[in-house]
Amino acid sequence: MSQNKPIGVFDSGIGGLTVLKALQSHFPYESFIYIGDTARLPYGTKSPETVARYAANLTKEILHHDVQAIIVACNTASTHGLTTVKALAKDIPVIGMIDPAAESAVSASRTGHIGVIATSGTIKSEAYKNALIKQNPDCKISSVACQILVALAEEGWANTDIAKSTLHTYLDPIFKQKNSPDTLILGCTHFPLFAPLIKEMLGTGVTLINSGEAASHHLAKLIKKNPSEKTSPKIKFFVTDDPQRFAENAAKFYNDQITPEDVMLIDIQS
Ligand code: DGL
Repeated sequence: MSQNKPIGVFDSGIGGLTVLKALQSHFPYESFIYIGDTARLPYGTKSPETVARYAANLTKEILHHDVQAIIVACNTASTHGLTTVKALAKDIPVIGMIDPAAESAVSASRTGHIGVIATSGTIKSEAYKNALIKQNPDCKISSVACQILVALAEEGWANTDIAKSTLHTYLDPIFKQKNSPDTLILGCTHFPLFAPLIKEMLGTGVTLINSGEAASHHLAKLIKKNPSEKTSPKIKFFVTDDPQRFAENAAKFYNDQITPEDVMLIDIQS
């Protein structure tokens, strides 16, 4: 793959910045194009057909940037749209969130009991269940849809009492059972923001799987980590609505400032 071409990353909005952050720390010499479909989020509550159509629109847009690979930095879009994205991308490698996270979870789990938290759409589709069983037919899966966490993360409430009590409501039925999971997939790109609270609640005996980290390991198989032909990396951000709001909220997901001038408003053709 050419080191000079950017890596294309897209998400329903802002959550994919947690994936971009992980990718950048693994590939500091690579340039990135990030597209957030802020006009049409959330994807997690929409039908599979709608999400697949949105994913196709974003893929066509990202292909205009002559990318070397596409990362679908949204679990819901990976669930419903990966086949469509791959068909449009032709010979450009495409990495979704589901298979890499499932693979990491199966190799991390000692007991074979894996928990999954994700959006309503991702859980309803059973994408994680299928991917985990493909990796380990004997594994046991406990999953729960946690759509409200998406709104809490966007509101900047990831580290509040409300988040804590919401997490208890979702996670207690799974983790208060006997022989509870020893591994938990954070199956939505917003959820790494809750990792500190989840770790505090579940303790060190439960390994958390971050989809951005897992996808980075997959990408590492495709590109060299420190190319000899070093370039000065560039990152371009595009959104379909309100660059100002995206920039203001970005720091929570990205641990870095993005100014409104860094973000370009685009119109995605349906
Ligand atoms: N980024 C989406 C995901 O990872 C969650 C946000 C949404 O519902 O759009 O599933």
